[in-house]
Amino acid sequence: MSEAIQVIKDLYYVGVSDPDIRTFDIIMKTANGTTYNAYLLKTSEGVIIFDTVKEEFQEEFFKKIESVCSYSDIKYIIMHHLEPDHSGALPELTRRAPGAKVFISPMAQPMLKSIAKTKDMEFETVWTNKQLKLGNKTITFLSTPNLHWPETMSSYLEEDCVLFSGDVFGSHYYDSRIFDDLVGDFDYAFKYYYDHIMRPFRSDVVKALKLYDKFDISIICNLHGPIMRDNPQKYIERYREWSEKVDRLHGKKIISIFYVTSYKNTKDMAQSIFDGIESDTNLIANIYDLTALDEQNMLTILEESTGILIGAPTINGDAPKPVWDLLSCMMLLEKKGKFGGCFGSYGWSGEAVEMIHHRLGALNFRLPLQPMKIKLIPTKEELVDCFEFGIEFGQIVNGKMVEMTL
Ligand code: FEO
Repeated sequence: MSEAIQVIKDLYYVGVSDPDIRTFDIIMKTANGTTYNAYLLKTSEGVIIFDTVKEEFQEEFFKKIESVCSYSDIKYIIMHHLEPDHSGALPELTRRAPGAKVFISPMAQPMLKSIAKTKDMEFETVWTNKQLKLGNKTITFLSTPNLHWPETMSSYLEEDCVLFSGDVFGSHYYDSRIFDDLVGDFDYAFKYYYDHIMRPFRSDVVKALKLYDKFDISIICNLHGPIMRDNPQKYIERYREWSEKVDRLHGKKIISIFYVTSYKNTKDMAQSIFDGIESDTNLIANIYDLTALDEQNMLTILEESTGILIGAPTINGDAPKPVWDLLSCMMLLEKKGKFGGCFGSYGWSGEAVEMIHHRLGALNFRLPLQPMKIKLIPTKEELVDCFEFGIEFGQIVNGKMVEMTL
């Protein structure tokens, strides 16, 4: 398709479709393909382009632009996000429209320099409440960092109540009918996208929603999947529901213990640590055998836990696979303010706990205690040590100040 599609008067969809892609960013399955959305706004004094597309699709993008304006009409290009699926066509667009100025967030500057491949790209940095006026249209910029890159931002078209949300509210879901009220049911794709792209930044989503709440929004023009014009508030509320933390425990913090065990020794350690934590009535302790948890359950538990303890024996000089599965799903988790720790029984070398400790440190968990290792079967005295390890970890999660180990 080489024609732009009108969204509302003077606002056009000039994005492209990638219906055959089946894996996005290595980690996401895209059963329905995806789209790289971009928009074109005509004003009484020229044209503004909102984002570009992946480089391999740029010819279709340019044909759509050419269907509604000349390159000399383009005055400004607003880049909400510089990941290559949106910035791929930017160098060629600025070559074809050399008079156009690019607007980016301050954090995007170093990235733009490496994408531009030229020193001649004129740009300006913008942040919340800065405005761009062109003819009869006004754009208000909104800083929405970490959704999902540090440089991401949004913007709002005042006269038409359109939110340009960047990757926020996206779905990897291609349907040629492009509007949410015309396409099929894309609910699964909307949630799946949130879980993989936005969930690790839930607190930044909450901050962005507070900014969006100040505006009357009639359409959400996002960067992937259907454009949202059928009660866009419902998508905002779903993000709010998924991102705001509910204090159902009246301020009590949760510590979750995950373990794997070969001969019950690590399990006995886990139980004594659990008892130590539970001895403080201001804490809630949970204990889980990792071999019986799937990833979705792991994520739900991890998300509501302030403290996380992992227990593992060492097998062939390594931690068992369920432990690595748990650690690898943490890339989908917001780690801010969380405490971690580990423990385990071992027979010979006992490397597993150090590996887990360092991995948790690399994931930015706060690690107040050195790993607890016990050779083979824990004695009664060693189980008392585990109990006290649980008490100490619980006190730290509840606010006791100590130096971190990493
Ligand atoms: Fe759609 Fe983060 O790029």
